[in-house]
Amino acid sequence: MTRKEFLGLIGVTAGVTVVASCMSSCKKKSTDLTIDFTLDLSLPANAVLLNNGAYMINQGAIVAKTIAGTYVAVAAACTHEGQEIMYQSSTDKFRCPKHGALFSDAGAVLQGPASTDLQKFNTTLTGTLLRVYS
Ligand code: FES
Repeated sequence: MTRKEFLGLIGVTAGVTVVASCMSSCKKKSTDLTIDFTLDLSLPANAVLLNNGAYMINQGAIVAKTIAGTYVAVAAACTHEGQEIMYQSSTDKFRCPKHGALFSDAGAVLQGPASTDLQKFNTTLTGTLLRVYS
């Protein structure tokens, strides 16, 4: 092997290593919150969630009552750079106000720059008690 061939091989190997390293570490990871809380919708502080199209943020989760009247909850921090997202009742989607990422009501990325889905949480309504949990 000539010196030129050897240096070329090292250059290719280093380039592949850098790219592989970046691909594994540069991708924004989804948050992995463990939550379990209950909102009493009969209390004034939580009563906004009685309205279709309304939302509130609690303990790192954004909880929304869709236009159709179902409760959904996802992580409140955008997976792009962590900005707090909002629920857009007109489109039934979650939107990040910082760079415009769009997520479905189940947290799936619909539009970048975010490339990772939002963590989705479970919701269970019993009477006026809304439990949100991972
Ligand atoms: S921080 Fe949400 S799109 Fe950039």
